Amino acid sequence: MANILITGGSRGIGKALVEHLAQEAQNKLLIISRTSLTTQAHNVKCLSFDLMQIHQQEEYLYQQVSDYFDAIDILINNAGLLINKNFEAITFDEAYRMAYLNYMAPAWLIRTLLPLLKRATHPHVVNISSMGGFQGSSKYKGLSWYSSSKAALASITECMAVEFAPYNIAVNCLALGAVNTEMLQQAFPGYQAPIEPAQMARFIANFAKSAHEVMNGKIIPIALSNP
Ligand SMILES: NC(=O)c1ccc[n+]([C@@H]2O[C@H](COP(=O)([O-])OP(=O)(O)OC[C@H]3O[C@@H](n4cnc5c(N)ncnc54)[C@H](OP(=O)(O)O)[C@@H]3O)[C@@H](O)[C@H]2O)c1
Repeated sequence: MANILITGGSRGIGKALVEHLAQEAQNKLLIISRTSLTTQAHNVKCLSFDLMQIHQQEEYLYQQVSDYFDAIDILINNAGLLINKNFEAITFDEAYRMAYLNYMAPAWLIRTLLPLLKRATHPHVVNISSMGGFQGSSKYKGLSWYSSSKAALASITECMAVEFAPYNIAVNCLALGAVNTEMLQQAFPGYQAPIEPAQMARFIANFAKSAHEVMNGKIIPIALSNP
């Protein structure tokens, strides 16, 4: 049995991940997003929570999660925000929201839930980053603030893997290429990505379940092309 926490499970890749992982009856899933996911699955619980508030509500969040899980085997930091705007057109609030949701919130969520991760035998944290934040990838106008927030998430993955080694907690990061979701359609109307959420979710789910047996602290590009 695996206790699995997924952020941003209400739509897109996160929702597809929940649908995939809930098929295995031995999994117990907790979803964090602002909107609750409507599901018939008996092994899925939704916690409506705004991750932009995590620094003010970490004790509440810990309480909610620990009421459901005595330990966390898999944590997938999937919630994210993309605002496609040129470097100089962005407002401070927009830049801040991306930096916070894409970098600070997942890092602080891990910090908040560390006691529950420590109780698992060999837990795996998977941080969902982007090809835009992958060193040496092609860069695009309008994505400076988004890509750099995702690069920060990738970088802290490497650092956390070292810090958590004594607890046998593995932390890896997936730098995803384009996937057909609401986020992509809002940012790039009309663009058709080569990957559907269910395909990417299948890969992420299998990675989350077993990749930490052979890797830790890695940042892995997951793309058919660049991006
Ligand atoms: N789609 C792509 O092409 C692509 C490429 C590379 C990387 N990624 C990354 O993959 C992840 C999933 O992307 P996606 O395309 O599936 O995005 P999406 O369709 O926009 O879904 C984002 C999810 O994050 C949740 N979320 C947003 N703000 C939140 C907040 N303040 N508190 C809690 N949850 C929040 C949303 O739920 P609520 O609105 O209900 O809160 C939603 O479930 C993101 O980290 C994204 O950066 C996506």
